[in-house]
Amino acid sequence: MDTFQAIKTRRSSRSFEDQPIPEKVISEINEAIMHSPSGSNAQESHFVIVQDKKQIHRVKRFAPGVSGNPTAIVVLCSNKQEALVRGGQDTKEVLRFINLGIVASFIILVAQSHGVGNCPARSFHQQSVKEILELPAEVEPELLISLGYPDQKPRPKTIKPVTEVISHEKYSG
Ligand SMILES: Cc1cc2nc3c(=O)[nH]c(=O)nc-3n(C[C@H](O)[C@H](O)[C@H](O)COP(=O)(O)O)c2cc1C
Repeated sequence: MDTFQAIKTRRSSRSFEDQPIPEKVISEINEAIMHSPSGSNAQESHFVIVQDKKQIHRVKRFAPGVSGNPTAIVVLCSNKQEALVRGGQDTKEVLRFINLGIVASFIILVAQSHGVGNCPARSFHQQSVKEILELPAEVEPELLISLGYPDQKPRPKTIKPVTEVISHEKYSG
């Protein structure tokens, strides 16, 4: 599946089959993470890929935003100290979150291109997940992405009219 197909077919998946994700897909997700851009090339993000069933269960207990039983959860984390040192104040305050958003898209599109369902989740208890993953004090978990083979078709979704979302040359909302 090419990138545009992956973008067009992507929907959040919240119910998964009990089927492992091939090592090749995990390996491509690793590569996607490592090749993602970051402001000033600060690379202040950290990622924990959780595949152990017990560890997934522990994370899920504190993550109401993670639905179903995903086969893996990627935890996208940010190190604000490293952001300040390597990128400066703007990286610490803003860019590190933009960086995570970009890498989240990369992860989702790699998964989608292999038919692996995915769903970002921000609804989780940060401190509890931090403790479960034994993150150092300066590293915060900011977003979870669940992965697994979907066992349901997504429900139809409402999309705003394009003219409300995209303008050309100047704002025309
Ligand atoms: C930053 C972010 C956080 C999200 N957090 C959650 C969440 O905690 N729980 C959840 O079920 N979905 C979550 N979602 C998924 C959105 O609900 C979903 O993307 C949206 O409804 C559009 O549906 P679609 O992804 O199928 O296009 C999140 C999405 C984004 C981008």
